[in-house]
Amino acid sequence: GAPVEVDIATLQPGEMRTVEWRGKPVWILRRTPEMLSSLKQTDKEVADPDSKRNPDEFTPEYCINEHRSRKPELLVAIGICTHLGCSPSTKFAPGPQPSLPDNWEGGFLCPCHGSTFDLAGRVFKNKPAPDNLVVPRHMYLSDTRILIG
Ligand code: FES
Repeated sequence: GAPVEVDIATLQPGEMRTVEWRGKPVWILRRTPEMLSSLKQTDKEVADPDSKRNPDEFTPEYCINEHRSRKPELLVAIGICTHLGCSPSTKFAPGPQPSLPDNWEGGFLCPCHGSTFDLAGRVFKNKPAPDNLVVPRHMYLSDTRILIG
């Protein structure tokens, strides 16, 4: 499929947009400073904190960093659970929630079998999903335009 160009000029901190690329939903989330700092906490709670598993398949080399992204605040990830392909929903409500870590700044919850992912798309330990959400290949054409694919 052809690459998809996305204008993110109006994407606000804490806001997420979904675009379609190759028939798949791609999430673009502009993380707030609080969301970014939550990654330091979830570091200890996720199964593959450094995205070392199958980097060719799940994380392009330029996103193997603590944010899993090219720019710290901008997460780009495919919104398909790595377990059996359901579509996780966003959970951005702060505060404790059942089965989620304390001081949770949010993340993603798969409704099918309960896998949870942090705000870098990293899967929490002991969940059915075996891998982090896929970060698709992408690049910035400018500060406000992303090319996905
Ligand atoms: Fe997401 Fe099973 S498909 S947990």
